[in-house]
Amino acid sequence: MKIMVTGGTGFIGSHIVDLLIKNNYDVCVIDNLSHSEIENINPKAKFYKCDILDPTVYKIFEVEKPDIVVHEAAQISNDYSISNPIKDASINIIGTLNLLESAKNVKAKKFIYASSAAVFGEPSYLPIDENHSLNMISNYGVSKHTPEHYLNVYRKLYNIPYCVLRYSNVYGPRQLSSSGGGVVSIFCNKIIKNQPPYIYGDGKQIRDFVYVKDVARANLLAIKNTCEGIFNVCSGQKISINELFKIIASILNKKLQPIYTENKLGDLVISYMTYQKIFKKMGWKPIYDIFEGIKETLEFYQ
Ligand SMILES: NC(=O)c1ccc[n+]([C@@H]2O[C@H](COP(=O)([O-])OP(=O)(O)OC[C@H]3O[C@@H](n4cnc5c(N)ncnc54)[C@H](O)[C@@H]3O)[C@@H](O)[C@H]2O)c1
Repeated sequence: MKIMVTGGTGFIGSHIVDLLIKNNYDVCVIDNLSHSEIENINPKAKFYKCDILDPTVYKIFEVEKPDIVVHEAAQISNDYSISNPIKDASINIIGTLNLLESAKNVKAKKFIYASSAAVFGEPSYLPIDENHSLNMISNYGVSKHTPEHYLNVYRKLYNIPYCVLRYSNVYGPRQLSSSGGGVVSIFCNKIIKNQPPYIYGDGKQIRDFVYVKDVARANLLAIKNTCEGIFNVCSGQKISINELFKIIASILNKKLQPIYTENKLGDLVISYMTYQKIFKKMGWKPIYDIFEGIKETLEFYQ
């Protein structure tokens, strides 16, 4: 079976590619390398350096005829989405439409889409489940959510089954600490170098950190499974930013104090999700706890 992974040289995409190849899938990748390293590409995957907005995507699909599309390529920075809303929307919305049109043309059997907890915004109850209202507070939240509507319409019009996987905060090896990189990669890289990281606000903000290999496994199950719909992919664990700092500093045995700075505009106080739906439908639950995940991540950065 052939799988097209967009963003397959990126942080999450490259782990998905590795896992699919390990499971003997035929994998091809589209990525423009705008936020990734070519070194991340698995040598057994066929690589196309291409922008998802480029009409060539359609031709690549005609050549490769993928059975399933796993769409990870995106503009991932909240800040960038606010300063460049048009570019953000064109990559995340129009880029996805270009892929959906290409998938329709080759009669792909499933489209798996990487969505985000950003679609929920400020929670009105916790943990956040898939029925929670959507109250986006950034352009990125809107641009990640809009393709979910298109997927629903393409299902009705052209019978393309789909899975939307809404990830919480993903962390792990290969995550970049620049532009849109996660707090774990920023903290790890700072603390390794004996530099105190900045913490916005009082550090009591609660987040849900899920390890990248668990996320890759959720994608594998979504490929193998006939289940369709929207699923949270998360740890379900509440970790404060202060706790995260302490975990990383203690594993590295560093006696550093973070530098507290002004709260970031639009920073949520608390957000964590439940994975009960994907557990019931596909049997997925996270295997890594935060200590194991951080240890593996630190080994990579060191
Ligand atoms: N990392 C997280 O915590 C997180 C959380 C929720 C959702 N997501 C979603 O998961 C997916 C993967 O995110 P990631 O953290 O691996 O980010 P990433 O930036 O590491 O990966 C995205 C990849 O897409 C590529 N890309 C960007 N724009 C492109 C374009 N126009 N054409 C072709 N390729 C392009 C980049 O070069 C990169 O390789 C994204 O869709 C993101 O929105 C990530």
